[in-house]
Amino acid sequence: MNGLNLPTSAQGSDPASLERLFGTTDVLPLWIAEPYLPLAPEVVAALEDRAGLGWYGYEIRPEAVRGSFRSWMERRHGWDVGDASAIVSPSLGTSIGALLDLVTHEGEAVILQPPVFTDFKPLVARAHRKVGRNSLVLDDGGYTMDLDGLEEIARQPDTTAMILCNPHNPVGRVWNSNELVEVARICGENDVFVISDEIHADILLGDSTFTPFASAAHGIDVRWAALHGPIKTFGLAGVADTLIITRDDDVASGFEAMSSRLHLARNNVFAMAATTTAYEQGADWLDGMLSQVAANVAALTDGLPEPVRLVQPEGTYLAWIDFRGLGLDVPELAAWLPSEARLALSPGHWFGREGAGFARMSIAVTSDVIDEAITRINTAVSQVPTA
Ligand SMILES: Cc1ncc(COP(=O)(O)O)c(C=O)c1O
Repeated sequence: MNGLNLPTSAQGSDPASLERLFGTTDVLPLWIAEPYLPLAPEVVAALEDRAGLGWYGYEIRPEAVRGSFRSWMERRHGWDVGDASAIVSPSLGTSIGALLDLVTHEGEAVILQPPVFTDFKPLVARAHRKVGRNSLVLDDGGYTMDLDGLEEIARQPDTTAMILCNPHNPVGRVWNSNELVEVARICGENDVFVISDEIHADILLGDSTFTPFASAAHGIDVRWAALHGPIKTFGLAGVADTLIITRDDDVASGFEAMSSRLHLARNNVFAMAATTTAYEQGADWLDGMLSQVAANVAALTDGLPEPVRLVQPEGTYLAWIDFRGLGLDVPELAAWLPSEARLALSPGHWFGREGAGFARMSIAVTSDVIDEAITRINTAVSQVPTA
């Protein structure tokens, strides 16, 4: 796709997965959240240089790796991570699983805000916790949080944690400071630990600004940990590790102990080279990608046929498209997208029942790919009798 030389095993476009999930390989695969664009040349060069050293043994992690994250956050978002702990973790999934172990007990409820990233619910279920469902509210103005509902669930004595997604995958909200301060207040008052997944923090559109949960929580007595890393911003999910940022000493020492017990923190030499270079030299490339994503949002806004419409994203490179006007039920839409529109998108129900009738499309792609996707949707919609 996109003229990229993807390996046939690239997740998202490998034939076996397409066949298994969509029943065909004759689809344009736009369902995985990563950039399908040539990545930052500085990062590619750093990886090539690192490979050229011919030494892949143990390495101590230079402080420059974490330092590059701290100064990126300061430059890009005006966030001084300060003396908060920045703990290395192999993946966000690892961090969430470990944090649930550390701050909750079996049988307790963890608040989610569906429609939301598909991994959260299985992580909660596999930890033998239950989901406290605080569905997002959709009206003509877009998605908002149901803060009254949040307060009600948070007040339940068995609710002990919340997984917040900011910016929110898949609906593209970048939660504002007022909303986040309310979340911090509600969770603080009810002793609910906030796991703030901020992996899409850098993917901002229009005049959106990212508010770290750390800033919203400032001055509020709430326990939290925020999850970060370069994997989404720079397309490094196959290489880089991630970070847990927290001011909670118990959680920091608890995670460090778990990491030491399970040997989670082996330093990957490529991860370290890619992370440092991305944060130190990748800003121009990221600005270019964000312009491309904004152009793709405009193309979808103009080009999608009635009654299909785009929920305007404030952030992420994910387009949340409303197909409800076609009158297809959940299995029908899931079948129609690959078979009629010849698109492999993530059908909305994957993100919770609140996503029924929607689908998520990755739009960090070149204009010709977006144009092709729009053409395919137009052709398919013109053949739906009721549309
Ligand atoms: C919000 C969010 N969190 C976490 C992840 C996955 O992170 P990891 O692969 O490090 O577990 C994704 C991937 O799409 C995501 O969108």
